Amino acid sequence: MKYHLITLGCQMNQNESERIAAFFEENGMQKETLENADIVVINACSIRKSATDKIHGKMKNIRKMGKKTVLTGCVLKEDLKKMEKMFDYMLESHDVANWPFFNQKKDFFQISPKRKGPSALVSIMTGCDNFCSYCVVPHTKGREKSRNWKEVVEEVKKAVAEGAKEIWLLGQNVNSYSGGTTFDELLRKINEIEGDFWIRFTSSHPKDFSNEVIKAISECDKVTEYLNLPVQSGDNKILKAMNRPYTVEEYKEIINSVKKTVPGIVLSTDIIVGFPGETESNFRNTVKLFMEVEFEMAYISCYSPRPGTVAEKIKDNISLEEKKRREKVLTELLKEITLSKNEKYKGEEVDVLVLKSKKNLLMGKTRGYKSVTFEGPQKLVGNFAKVKITKVSPWGLKGKLLS
Ligand code: 5AD
Ligand code: SF4
Repeated sequence: MKYHLITLGCQMNQNESERIAAFFEENGMQKETLENADIVVINACSIRKSATDKIHGKMKNIRKMGKKTVLTGCVLKEDLKKMEKMFDYMLESHDVANWPFFNQKKDFFQISPKRKGPSALVSIMTGCDNFCSYCVVPHTKGREKSRNWKEVVEEVKKAVAEGAKEIWLLGQNVNSYSGGTTFDELLRKINEIEGDFWIRFTSSHPKDFSNEVIKAISECDKVTEYLNLPVQSGDNKILKAMNRPYTVEEYKEIINSVKKTVPGIVLSTDIIVGFPGETESNFRNTVKLFMEVEFEMAYISCYSPRPGTVAEKIKDNISLEEKKRREKVLTELLKEITLSKNEKYKGEEVDVLVLKSKKNLLMGKTRGYKSVTFEGPQKLVGNFAKVKITKVSPWGLKGKLLS
């Protein structure tokens, strides 16, 4: 039997796919192209309506091919119902050992993920207890559950021994990690693992972001100077309606403390524009926050109502056109901020983890998660390189290989 796996959505889904792929192969199945596969698995995401539209888009073609099809991942019951007729099976990713194709039983986290490249994604927890009013995750993934820290440390050790140079610790809210220790302590334990690698983590919630975590970022040499701290809105009325239990002032306090304690930190955030009831003046507060914090990266989404969430019951009163306009305003602002911030890299020597290559053009990331392109030999992919920055743009840096 040959399988083909399509992954949509976030890094958590990517990591789940790596375990699903490993389990297929442990059971003697081979990875194949879509055309030649017997089973097609779509590991999907319901977070925005556009994500579920992607599933429909992919299936249009696949249904004509007469393959066995499986839908899994982070999909809402309501969306599953609509797609019932499109798939042969709808199965839980964490229950892969009980899928009808295998007769081997295994706990999901006992499956060693089939990793590729120098970045190892390591889930430290699943689920979410926060119930932000717009979000499906607590409905699709259930309650927060942390993996024991010893299991996480073992998984990181193994990934490092296999050549990983960057460890991404993943969870919906890593700051509320409770696997026998706190998140800051987990960072310290992973930092102590021998080897030449970087540590990154996502995603964080401002309500649980402690001073101890800030201290750990600054004191652990392997933890990089990059922080994604989703604020979602720069307006207190909207934050309240989103069920995000912090104020813009409290958010700024955390940011100021991070900036003071971790010099050179690169800040990133998640934003939703056009949440129901977001007036122009509420939106302007988000613009103001962008300028004050000087985010260098932002995942900006246009709000889309999702079935079963609290916000779905509030009238989605902002037109798509207006949402897109607000998204564009923030993107333009981000471009300006990032360009001026990137200027300081000109002439600097930076460490780059080389992630991929296209002929002799290499692409990698700095500790602050800036993209860098430069010419060099392919054998550098998966290794660190020293690069002198010669040119900057809003979305990345260009440089010359030093060593
Ligand atoms: N509409 C738009 N964006 C959403 N997100 C989550 N739910 C929605 C929704 N209903 C965004 C949030 C979150 C990111 C992963 O997706 O910004 O941080
Ligand atoms: Fe969704 Fe909020 Fe949980 Fe993030 S913290 S996964 S936005 S409910």
